[in-house]
Amino acid sequence: MRPYHPALVILHWLLAILVPFLLLFGADLTLRVHLALGIAIGGLFLIRLGIRFTTGASGVHEAKRPIDRLAIPAHRLIYLLVFGVVATGLGIVLQGNLIDVMLNHGRLPENFSALPSLQAHQVLTSVLLIVLSIHILAALFHQFVLKDAVFGKLGFAKSRED
Ligand code: HEM
Ligand code: HEM
Repeated sequence: MRPYHPALVILHWLLAILVPFLLLFGADLTLRVHLALGIAIGGLFLIRLGIRFTTGASGVHEAKRPIDRLAIPAHRLIYLLVFGVVATGLGIVLQGNLIDVMLNHGRLPENFSALPSLQAHQVLTSVLLIVLSIHILAALFHQFVLKDAVFGKLGFAKSRED
C-alpha cells in the first residue's frame, strides 16, 4: 500500500480539523472569520488537488476487492461537495451583498434566509457532514476491523508493501 506524499498527509489532517470545525460551528462564528476560514479551506483543497495530480495516486487504485474501489468515487464526492460548499458560500456573499454589510456595518437583506445560494449552502453542508461521518467510520473500519493499515497511507504507522 503506497503512502500519500507528505504534503498531502499534512493537508489532509489540517483539513480534517478545519472542515468539521466550520461544519459544526460555522453558524456561530462571525461572518468575517467564517468567510476567511471557508476561503482558506477552498484554497487548501485546490492546492491538495494540484499536489495529488502531480504526485500520483495512492493505494486505492491498487485495491484488490471490488468494494474497495468505492473509495475512489467517495473521495471524489468529498472534493465535489467541499468545492460546492465554497462556491455556494461565495454565492451568498454576492447575492446577499455581504461585502457591503461587513465594510459598512450594514444589515443583512430582509430575504437573507430565502437566498437560493444560502439554501444550497445549507443542503450541501448537511450532505458533507453525512458523507464525512461515513468517511471517518469507513477509515476506522478499515484500520481496526479489516486491519489493512489504511492509516499508514496518511502518516500513521509504517505502510505495508503489498
Ligand atoms: C478522523 C477523521 C479522518 C480520518 C480517520 C480519515 C482517514 C482517511 C484515510 C485513511 C484516507 C486514505 C484512504 C485511501 O486512500 O484509501 C483518507 C483520504 C481522504 N480523506 Fe480523510 N479522514 C478523516 C477526515 C477527513 C475529513 C474531515 C476530510 C474532509 C475535509 C477528509 C478528506 C479526505 C479526502 C478528500 C481523501 C482522499 C484523498 C485523495 O485521494 O486525494 N478526511 N482519509
Ligand atoms: C468548506 C467550507 C465551509 C463550510 C464547512 C461552511 C459551513 C457553513 C455552515 C454549517 C453554515 C450554517 C448553515 C445554517 O444556517 O444552517 C454556513 C453558513 C454560511 N456560510 Fe459557510 N461554510 C463554508 C464556506 C463558506 C464560504 C467560502 C463562504 C463565503 C465566502 C461562506 C459563507 C457563509 C454565509 C454567508 C453563511 C450564512 C451565515 C449566517 O446565516 O449568518 N461559507 N456555512
